[in-house]
Amino acid sequence: MQSLTKLDRLLWTSVTFKRPWTRTTPVFKLCTLPLEPVIPCKKPFKVDVVGGKRHSWCTCGYSKKQPFCDGSHKLKAPGFSPLRFFPVKDMTVYLCGCKYTNNPPYCDGTHKQDFILSAPLYEEKDS
Ligand code: FES
Repeated sequence: MQSLTKLDRLLWTSVTFKRPWTRTTPVFKLCTLPLEPVIPCKKPFKVDVVGGKRHSWCTCGYSKKQPFCDGSHKLKAPGFSPLRFFPVKDMTVYLCGCKYTNNPPYCDGTHKQDFILSAPLYEEKDS
């Protein structure tokens, strides 16, 4: 995880609301920090897509059906939602696996940058 710069601290803030009669249990927390996905894979997925069909690309990184959404964001990353796209024709595409592409849902090579290469890979833990 990247540390916040001085400018980030000025731009982003976090506020915790507490019940007035307790001092320990927060009721809810508002945070303007940008959401960050986890990294399930550090390379793109080669996928055959169907023209005109709706595809839902996972944006949070928690899906077990990478690179597509399986609804995991509802429990694990409520601020996220899948990116829906409709290919114009049947074709083979490279969908981003690191979730940090600047051209979602397609890989743009961002996964080769140091901040991705040095970041931890998300792995589902059995509970
Ligand atoms: S896998 Fe994310 S930019 Fe390539």
